[in-house]
Amino acid sequence: MDKRKLIIDTDCGSDDAMAIAMALNDPNYEILMFSTVCGNVNAEQAAINTLTTIEKTESYEPPVYVGAQKPLLVPAVFAADTHGEDGMGDIGLVPTRLKKRPENGIYKTLETLEQHGDQEIEIVALGPLTNIALEMLMAPETMRKVRRISIMGTAGLGVGNVTPLAEFNIWQDAEAAKIVLDFGVPLLFVGWDACLDDAMLDPDDIAEIRNGSELGKFVIDCNKVLMEMNVGRFGYECLDMADPAAMAAALYPECIEECDKYYCEMDVTNGPGYGAFIVDKYRFSGKEPNAYVCSKLKAKEYKDYIKRTLKVK
Ligand code: RIB
Ligand code: CA
Repeated sequence: MDKRKLIIDTDCGSDDAMAIAMALNDPNYEILMFSTVCGNVNAEQAAINTLTTIEKTESYEPPVYVGAQKPLLVPAVFAADTHGEDGMGDIGLVPTRLKKRPENGIYKTLETLEQHGDQEIEIVALGPLTNIALEMLMAPETMRKVRRISIMGTAGLGVGNVTPLAEFNIWQDAEAAKIVLDFGVPLLFVGWDACLDDAMLDPDDIAEIRNGSELGKFVIDCNKVLMEMNVGRFGYECLDMADPAAMAAALYPECIEECDKYYCEMDVTNGPGYGAFIVDKYRFSGKEPNAYVCSKLKAKEYKDYIKRTLKVK
């Protein structure tokens, strides 16, 4: 069977790195390209981190292009406290051979879609939606060719991780998220809640992954800063792997426990709700659902998928 084709848009921080390694090793998919976006780190650093991850995965090597250098309207707020200054745990990781391509990631995404047929390509977005929104504004007919856009973003049916209501990727460019939500292509949002509770990587999972392969060691070690932060946030060494959860839901839907279609709205008002992704779970609005929201994964299937694609023995 032909491999399904992906474009991955990423603000490559340390959890993106795990998700990217998983996707590169999934035999059912071919990643055509990576575009980077300002989020955890600036878009240039995200490209460096993506190149490092491709090298460490020792699989095929899709091209990496830098996209938007800042959100549409609001200032960039990097996540050094979560992922380290370099986004990869500040443990000195740099690419030794690969280089980014000179073209802009937004133009290359549109060009790649133009070179393929309708419904042939899925986009997986692991960072703020700035690139995706600009692609929709610049070439709406080209973007309507996309089979689906799977997004790590929103609080799902839970709470926020950057404000009480908002999840970071959506909050960092809520205007872009509104453009994407209103555009009208199939959307799957995987909420931050999907990687919590029994989907959280606990100390046993972390040890098994780290000790099970060189790649496993890399993706755990680059999440060092997040693990240290989580001792204070959750009370023990654990990893809330938001991007791996989104990647697993997108590429291996057998691991999805709860996912449904809802009418959703973006709050872009200039108040405490800014960046909140409002899910009309009980259908008060009576409006047609406009997006799928995945809020829970089957922990065993999800973790087995992580370990399988990270070649953990
Ligand atoms: O809220 C979690 C998301 O924000 C993840 O994608 C993480 O990498 C950051 O981009
Ligand atoms: Ca990310």
